[in-house]
Amino acid sequence: MADRTGPAPTPEPWRIKSVEPIRQISREARGHALEEAGYNVFRLRSGDVFVDLLTDSGTGAMSVSQWAAIQRGDEAYAGARNWAGLEHTLRGITGYEHVIPVHQGRGAETVYTRAFVDEGDFVLGNMHFDTTRAHIYNRGAWPVNLVVDEGLDPEDPSPFKGDADLAKLERAVAERGVDRCPLFILTITSNTNGGQPVSLHNARAVSEFCRAHGIRLLLDAARFAENAYLVREREPGMAGHSVAQIAREFFDLADGAAMSAKKDALVNIGGWLAFRRREDYLEARKWAVLYEGYLTYGGMAGRDLEAMAVGLREGLDPRYLEARIRQVRLLHGMLSDAGVPVMRPPGGHSVMIDVNRFLDHLPREQYPAESLAAALYLEAGVRSVGLGALAFAEINPDTGQIETPEWEYLRLAIPRRVYTDNHLAYIGEAVANLHRKREEIGGLKLLEAPLDLPHFTARFGPA
Ligand code: F0G
Repeated sequence: MADRTGPAPTPEPWRIKSVEPIRQISREARGHALEEAGYNVFRLRSGDVFVDLLTDSGTGAMSVSQWAAIQRGDEAYAGARNWAGLEHTLRGITGYEHVIPVHQGRGAETVYTRAFVDEGDFVLGNMHFDTTRAHIYNRGAWPVNLVVDEGLDPEDPSPFKGDADLAKLERAVAERGVDRCPLFILTITSNTNGGQPVSLHNARAVSEFCRAHGIRLLLDAARFAENAYLVREREPGMAGHSVAQIAREFFDLADGAAMSAKKDALVNIGGWLAFRRREDYLEARKWAVLYEGYLTYGGMAGRDLEAMAVGLREGLDPRYLEARIRQVRLLHGMLSDAGVPVMRPPGGHSVMIDVNRFLDHLPREQYPAESLAAALYLEAGVRSVGLGALAFAEINPDTGQIETPEWEYLRLAIPRRVYTDNHLAYIGEAVANLHRKREEIGGLKLLEAPLDLPHFTARFGPA
């Protein structure tokens, strides 16, 4: 990787002021913990985890400015001054006039699917993430993934594997009828395949199509700053634009956006929804009050609003983003150098291990992604997450049959501003070790799982 053999990288634009001790428990204790957790890493106690790459959501470190902002929280039920500040910041970043606070991303999903999705509808998207899909199903509607084929091929090196395929989009709308397609959700970056970016070129084409057909276009902007950074780097002609300008160009193309602020807004909890049109806002607002809270706090404390406003600005700082993306690439480079099959190219927030190739001796029925997650925890105390057949099985709207995706990934999501390169080197070594003895890794059998979002709470036993 150029990053490791070229000139020394620019160091992080921060220093560490407060540290949280972590400890490794013994291999034997990890074995017990895993058994107790039903071999599902979601069920582990965080104290039993050494390095935690389960998610990049809400796991970042706040800055001194954000901790200072926490002290400025105005905890009034209505009209808190922190709300005015956050609304102002969000209007500035997005250009949208109408902003609604929500407690996290899925709060926004509850509100916008209530407002804009009816039973039997088809909700279009490049690649819906798990909670988004679950909210669509919850409305009796159908999620439709239209990502380019390259996005489904872990070995394809294309730069924009989060793009939507326009031909697939045209076909889906022709087949289902435009009246049944009220909404397109463009997720930037595309989390389901590891934080692959969407190009501005593609967002423009999707926007034109949606405008021409009267389809509402919302951005899922959880990782909008990482997407903008990767566009600046990878899209021809964009190098001279600032990250904030590029982000704004995306917002300009859509009718609104929803964000889990636990990602690129660098906070531990929070989210928002925003709209260009007042009618959309009025439709969403009634559900927001019902489910999330009054319109000036949306399930957050006043202090959370203030920390988010600061985090949104810090999250767009190109020096921060450079250090952030460099770390993702560092881990990606270590794994691919060790011959571990990983999704190429590296995305914005995670490294995806291609479990179909890593554990090619395990049948799909033995939950290879979850098996590898369990094995990595046992090996090194590292928590990751399996994203494959269990998490992303779909109901075919025409046959009612459950269909499982081809892919099976282990996601190593990197928290923001939390771990050092030494932690990453430790993880790289652990995964490489595991890869060398991969034939010894056994599969799992499912003991219990709910129908919705089964991966969160399933219990397994050794197959
Ligand atoms: N949209 C995207 C693209 C997400 O990645 C997530 C969460 C959500 C919506 C829901 O947001 O968690 O704040 O309710 N993704 C996390 C993850 C959980 O691990 O990737 P939330």
